[in-house]
Amino acid sequence: MFHMGWFIAQGFGVHGWNQPWSGSIGTEWTKPDLYIDLARAIERAGFDYLMLEDGSLVPDSYGSSPEWFVRNAWMVPKNDPMPLVPLIGQATRHLGIVATMTTSFYPPFIGARLAATLDHLTEGRVGLNIVTAHNDRAAQNFGLDQHHEHDLRYEIADEWMDVAYKLWGSWAEGAVLRDEVSGAFADFTKVNPIDHVGRFFKSRGPLNTHPGPQGRPVICQAGGSPAGRSFAAKHADTILARFRSIDAARAFREDIHRLALSHGRDPSRIKILYMMSAVIDETDEGAMNRLEALKKGAARQAEYKLAFMSYASGKDFSKFDLDQPVPEIKTNAAQASTAALTRAAGAQKTLREIAMETASGGFDYVGSPDTVATQMGETMSAIGGDGFLVSHTLNRRTIAEFTDGLAPALRRRGLIRSAYSYPRFRDNLLEF
Ligand SMILES: Cc1cc2nc3c(=O)[nH]c(=O)nc-3n(C[C@H](O)[C@H](O)[C@H](O)COP(=O)(O)O)c2cc1C
Repeated sequence: MFHMGWFIAQGFGVHGWNQPWSGSIGTEWTKPDLYIDLARAIERAGFDYLMLEDGSLVPDSYGSSPEWFVRNAWMVPKNDPMPLVPLIGQATRHLGIVATMTTSFYPPFIGARLAATLDHLTEGRVGLNIVTAHNDRAAQNFGLDQHHEHDLRYEIADEWMDVAYKLWGSWAEGAVLRDEVSGAFADFTKVNPIDHVGRFFKSRGPLNTHPGPQGRPVICQAGGSPAGRSFAAKHADTILARFRSIDAARAFREDIHRLALSHGRDPSRIKILYMMSAVIDETDEGAMNRLEALKKGAARQAEYKLAFMSYASGKDFSKFDLDQPVPEIKTNAAQASTAALTRAAGAQKTLREIAMETASGGFDYVGSPDTVATQMGETMSAIGGDGFLVSHTLNRRTIAEFTDGLAPALRRRGLIRSAYSYPRFRDNLLEF
């Protein structure tokens, strides 16, 4: 069996502005309904979690202006995803809910307290996608002229996690008594300062709430650079990865397992979910026809691809020659994502060829639910585990395709769960 997650790549933003099947997204995007529909559907389908992307910036790298991004509602506007978490929690009973938090701009005390609060509100189903953030424009909203150097960001993140663990542990086991006979709510001797004084943070503690049902939230991570991988292997319960070849995905998993052991961790407690996308229809032929139709619209999509490359790298891809191979991009922004977007298709391809590809950058499937389910099973057994992260346009049609079309086909093959064994997120994640 493998795990399933759903990546909400535009966070609490506008999904598929002005595209077919996007409904009234222009006015509805600020409401929780689409997320609640998604959450209920993927819970019915047995998914482990949904993951809400986030970033705090108005991008302006493509065309060296915010024009393209604002006009197309791509990555802007974007609401804060945190208030969605308890709303989704109220509408579901088993699903894990992962929201993105950056260690670069959240003070660890606020982060640890918010996570504990959300874990209480969801009764043990919250996760944090811990990111370092990669964009100078975000850094400039928090008092920096430029973002910290790439690897330094992970050193800051590592200490941030250390402070957060200490804060979540600042109420010792047994501190909460709720003893109505003696009148003591809690034993103050078990609630202690952490007195953390480090290279980047200073925090006295203790946390002014006791930890949630999970003790600490599920930690999710998507770093792909050497520093990012090491950080993920040290801290994450679940890792998100983007590869299009089985060999590369397997090598990544082996690397994460090796790094986990070097940090004294049991690799089987880290669940790696690989990004995937699928064109699904009633029949294989119907799905192939849909793919052909998508290819006809590739020119419009190409612009999105170039904007995405600009967003991830901070470089203006409108200035590159479309008919030349893409040079190797050195960036202080998202290094692994930039490499995946610009190089994975092969160094020889021109920028135009890469931009016109309909491939998602992760594993792509085309066919009927049965065909896609069979192929996903083959991919996962060749990699060795642990699951897939759906990374696809979010609208109510795609929700139905994956949850009412594909998921039953996966379940018939015994590839995904048919029920949740535990009330809490981490326990379900570690079940297999
Ligand atoms: C599936 C996925 C989701 C991500 N979500 C976010 C996000 O919400 N916010 C963010 O700032 N970065 C996000 N990232 C970027 C990663 O945190 C990381 O910066 C990127 O993968 C590059 O890795 P590196 O920094 O180790 O080079 C995401 C990456 C992936 C693959």
